[in-house]
Formats: sequence, C-alpha cells, structure tokens
Amino acid sequence: MQEVPDLYMFFGRFHPLFVHLPIGILVFALIFELYLRWKPNASLHAVLPIVWGLAALSSVLSALSGYILSLGGGYNEEILSLHKIGGITLSILSICCFILAFYRLPWLASYRKTTQKIVLSSIAVFLLLTGHWGGTLTHGNDYLMEYAPFVQTDSTSKLDHASRISSLDSADIFKDAVQPIVQSKCVSCHNAEKKKGGLLLTSYEEMLAGGKTKAGIIPGNTATSEIFRRITLPPSHKEFMPTGGKKPLTENQIAILEWWIDQGAQRNMMISSMKPNKHIQDIFSDFFQLGRDAILSYAAKPASSEALSDLLKAGFQVHAISESNNLLEVKYSGPSNEKINLSLLEPIKDQLVWLQLINCGVTDEDLKLIGGLSNLYKLNLNRNKISDRGFNELIRLPKVEYLNLYGTLVSDSAINQLVTLPKLKKLYVWESRVDSLGIEAGKRANPKVDIVYKLN
Ligand code: HEC
Repeated sequence: MQEVPDLYMFFGRFHPLFVHLPIGILVFALIFELYLRWKPNASLHAVLPIVWGLAALSSVLSALSGYILSLGGGYNEEILSLHKIGGITLSILSICCFILAFYRLPWLASYRKTTQKIVLSSIAVFLLLTGHWGGTLTHGNDYLMEYAPFVQTDSTSKLDHASRISSLDSADIFKDAVQPIVQSKCVSCHNAEKKKGGLLLTSYEEMLAGGKTKAGIIPGNTATSEIFRRITLPPSHKEFMPTGGKKPLTENQIAILEWWIDQGAQRNMMISSMKPNKHIQDIFSDFFQLGRDAILSYAAKPASSEALSDLLKAGFQVHAISESNNLLEVKYSGPSNEKINLSLLEPIKDQLVWLQLINCGVTDEDLKLIGGLSNLYKLNLNRNKISDRGFNELIRLPKVEYLNLYGTLVSDSAINQLVTLPKLKKLYVWESRVDSLGIEAGKRANPKVDIVYKLN
C-alpha cells in the first residue's frame, strides 16, 4: 500500500458517492440530445451547453476522486486499469460535447451530425462498461448474479457447506471447516478483484503464501502464522482482522484454525483421522451444529446490552454461540478472591445456554440460582466446593445435556438423582467422591447417560 496523505484519501472515499452524479447527468444529456434531434427547439438548445458543462465537470471530479481512491491499492489491477481508462474517456468525451454545444465551431459544421453521432454513442457504451467495471471492483465478480434465481454462485454454496456435514467422520478439515470460515469472514476483501494487503484467501496455496509482507500460514506454528496473529490481536488493534467493523471470528472458529495450523495445516485430511481430543471434538460438533436439534432449534430475543456490559465489567466472558439465534455462552475462570455475583446471570436467563464457572468459589447456596437458569444446555462447575446438598437444586434443569462436576464433592447419592435429568447425555465426575458402586447404580438408573469418571 502506497502512503497517501489523509486529506487526499478523504476526497477519494467520496468517489462511490460522486460517480452517481455524472451517470445521472450523462444519461439525461443523452436523452436531451435525442429529443432535440426529434423536435429541434432553439430555446431548449440554449440549455445544452449548461447540461454538458455539468456533465463534464462531474465526470472530471469523479475521475479524480477515483484515481486517488485507487492509490490506496488492493484492487484487481486489470479491471482497475479498464475502469480508469473508461473514466478518463468519459471525461474527455463529455468535455468534447461541451465544446461542441458551446462553440458552434464553423469548421465542424459540415461534420457536425456524424461527429455528434459517434461521440454520443461512445458515451453510452463507455458509461455502461465503466459502471460495470466499477461495480466489479467493489463488489466482486459474482455480485450481479449472487441473488439470481437458479444460479448458485461460489460464495453461497461454500457457506452452506458447514450445515451439510452430518457427522465428524465425514468432514474434511480444510474444505469443510477452515475454508468456510475464511470464506465467510475474510474473502470479501481478499479475493481476485480486491486484493487487500496483496493477500488472496480463496485457495489453500494462497492462504499459505500470504500477502505483501508475510507468509500467511506456517504449518505447525501458530506463533509465526500471520493470519493467526491478525485474528487473535485485540479487536481494537489496527492490524486486527477482519477490519472495517466486520464481525470477528468466534472462539470456536479461532480454535479450529489454531488446531488446524498446529496439526500441520493439512490440505486434505479427514478430521476423524487427525485424532481430535475430546475438547476439539466438542468444538467441531458445535461448529457443524451436530447437536443442533437440541439447542439450535431454540432462538431467543437479543440480550439487553446493559446486562451484557454488567457481566463483562464483573469479569465474566460472554460469547455468542451462533450469529443468528442470540444464544450466549458465559464463562468465569477462577481462582477469584472476591465472591462472584451470579445474580448478574438472571437478566440473560433466556439467552444463556452454556455456563462455565470453573474454580471460582461457587457454593451450595449459589446452586439455587443456577438451578433456575432453565435454558442451560451445558453446565460446567468443575473444581468448586459443592456438595450433594446443593446438587438437589440442579435436578430442576430441564434441558441440560452435558454436566461437568469434575473435582467437586459430588457423591453417590447425588449421582443417582442427577441421572434423572431428562435430557442428560454426559456426566463428568472425575476426582469427586463417587465410588464404583455409585457409578454402577447411576448407570443402572439411566443407561442412556454416559458417565465419565476416574475413581480416586
Ligand atoms: C473489510 C476488509 C477486510 C476483511 C474482511 C479482511 N481483511 Fe485482511 N486486510 C485488509 C486490508 C485493507 C489489509 C491491508 C492493511 C494491513 O495490512 O493491515 C489487510 C491485510 C491482511 C493481512 C496482511 C497481508 C500482508 O502480508 O501484509 C492479513 C494476513 C490479513 N489481512 C488477513 C485477513 C484475515 C485472516 C481475514 C478474515 C478473518 C481478513 N484479513 C479479513 C482488509 C480486510
């Protein structure tokens, strides 16, 4: 990117707005000329120089602002030069028309009609072409056809991909996970038409190769992979990607890219053959929405921004689960010296589906409140000093599928009750007070629950 003074760039940014002026005026001028040929009228004729004068002035201003905008770089060079030639030609042609209309040049009188015909039809042709090239520069090649019926353009078919995976065994790490993420968050600025930072992100090779300054991905090394660095900067950093106020990547999307790079950034590899651990498997099943029947059939109203900012101020981490249904994941990881204020969760009760409160002093007393968070689908309370007395409160939770009580004081009698949770699928009770008898009894009471444990 060349250095362009701010004031110039300020003017350049007006180009998309300016261009509509010459388009409108030129179309008007053309129609006006046609009308005068059909019905010559001396007093209307006197207006022609003004119309062409305005057309010429606005064309020149557009061309200038466009030229300055192009200095910022990041556009497809070929289409840019066509668009530039188109803009300059239109400016010159409209100046010609102004001269023709203003000075009724005597030496031109005999050629007047032919000249006019050529100039006017050239304007019509260049107007169409230049507008089309300009549109392609800003919106990309498939912009016009993107919403055309029966035509499936690349971008929509790729976006749909994630939702077509029915199990992890049938998913390819790059094609089904990495590429759709990059497609949805990055390709709008890093494609053949708009190559910001000299970087293309439309294929595997391009992603690894990177842009003007650095390689994009270094397999096995997130620390030196520029793409990974850019997406994990603080969002206020000027090099953070995606820029331009676009939605940042979600936690899961970042985790997937991180794991892919760590595992060697393979191009064709089934996820299942890469031996993902439990944590990564969970991330992928969320990403492919494999558990969507339970959770994603549910959508809530957006949470109040006050409630969210209170949570953030109190040190909770809040994440959107998916961009469409307003559901939230809230985390708090200790150890914390102060008592955390769990009542802040109540205002987002409708949206809250995942809750992780890890090693942060949650007590039996607090479980009363947690037991009332009736949309919870995943609850992780590991390493808190909670006992059987408190767990009674949790059996009120109607939707919980995943309950993690690792490192708590849960014992056999609580297991027996917890397995009666109507939707429970997984119960983690590592390093708690349960013994083999308790596990056996729990499994007998509800064979559908997978109890994950390690006895002391
Ligand atoms: C709104 C447009 C936009 C979006 C969306 C966007 N970028 Fe960029 N990107 C830019 C611009 C402009 C630059 C050049 C300025 C700079 O280097 O910060 C750039 C530069 C980069 C560079 C540096 C290239 C180099 O070698 O100098 C990387 C890496 C990058 N982007 C990655 C990404 C990733 C990954 C995403 C998706 C998460 C993304 N970008 C989304 C506009 C965008």
